[in-house]
Amino acid sequence: MILRERSAGECRVAATPETVRRLRARGLEVQLEQGAGLAAGFADPDYADAGARLVPSGASLGAGVDAVLCVNPPAAEVLDQLKPGALVAGLLAPYGAAAMVEQFQARRVSALALELLPRISRAQSMDVLSSQANIAGYKAVLLAAAALDRYVPMLMTAAGTIQPARALILGAGVAGLQALATARRLGAVVYVSDVRPAAKEQVESLGGRFLTPPEQEERPAESGGYAKAASEAFLAAQRQQLAEQLALADMVICTAQVPGRPAPRLISEEMLAGMRPGSVVVDLAVAQGGNCAGTACGQTVERDGVTLIGGDGLPSSVANHASALYARNLAALVEHVLGEAGFQLDPLLDQEDPIVAGCLLTHAGACRFPDLFSGAT
Ligand code: NAI
Repeated sequence: MILRERSAGECRVAATPETVRRLRARGLEVQLEQGAGLAAGFADPDYADAGARLVPSGASLGAGVDAVLCVNPPAAEVLDQLKPGALVAGLLAPYGAAAMVEQFQARRVSALALELLPRISRAQSMDVLSSQANIAGYKAVLLAAAALDRYVPMLMTAAGTIQPARALILGAGVAGLQALATARRLGAVVYVSDVRPAAKEQVESLGGRFLTPPEQEERPAESGGYAKAASEAFLAAQRQQLAEQLALADMVICTAQVPGRPAPRLISEEMLAGMRPGSVVVDLAVAQGGNCAGTACGQTVERDGVTLIGGDGLPSSVANHASALYARNLAALVEHVLGEAGFQLDPLLDQEDPIVAGCLLTHAGACRFPDLFSGAT
């Protein structure tokens, strides 16, 4: 069952006509809530042509189905209709979501939380964090360029030469690297800060200039390619280093995050006051508390002439391609767990399959990652 997303501002859908065909070819029956793809530019007749059965919104959407594919967590009433052992796969926002997880357990739902998918080569085709962060990084630069009071590229005109805009990107993960590539394509000179020294090579290969993290006795540790939370002393040293760069920047794209933790606060009110009026900050970490002081989810505010954009939910603003990629990621995961006799989670767990072991949040009435709710991750 593919649901129409109900979260405010969400335009994406978890399956497209292309992936419906793909799932049908694997022998699955696909039901889709009417209008589920409309906001992403996919019409009901195209789903019907692909072999989906359209179900009206008023129906008991969860009743009798073996799996629910979604972008955001399904509504509680849909979960209540699911049979024991049904699969739910989507961006389930598991960090701290104790009530939702209790409901999964009570219903004996097998919940695949895509946020927990391991970042390994085998799982790349299923990696929605990457496909969606890529879009966010791209769109953040477009928003910054549109709000900026300057050209981005260097221009030589009869009225004289315009220097290229200077971009500063905080965090060189998937979103940060795409922001770097997009800003370079527009002609900006781009500086990038990350606490992981491994990011230097990637930044330089895309034509960015890497800001080496401050020398501190205690550097933030790394686990599985992710940064771990930095100490307050490290962040203070980093802020000092960034203050000078911020004063020179035209656009700043904030992407620094630590999974399951509040985002590191890298730009203070005082640092904002030192920025050039007319410059722009887009904060992609805003939903995790923000890298920048004063940013608010989905809002654009002005602070001493600096435009602050709370870049929450940007993949949804590129809903057609975001859905196309998300749906392919999800179809790859469904194919991975599909065996001859339906979904085969237990055999995959027995084989210590890293993909299922990594992202199966609840199964057979148990939560497999209780640490997510104790703050111990
Ligand atoms: P993320 O969204 O969790 O964080 C973004 C970036 O912020 C990270 O590069 C992190 O090091 C950085 N950061 C954290 N604290 C910071 C601070 N105080 N100052 C500056 N930067 C800070 O990261 P994302 O995009 O999810 O990528 C995480 C890792 O996973 C990366 O190493 C990435 O290359 C890797 N990856 C591996 C894949 C694979 O092998 N299949 C696929 C995608 C990502």
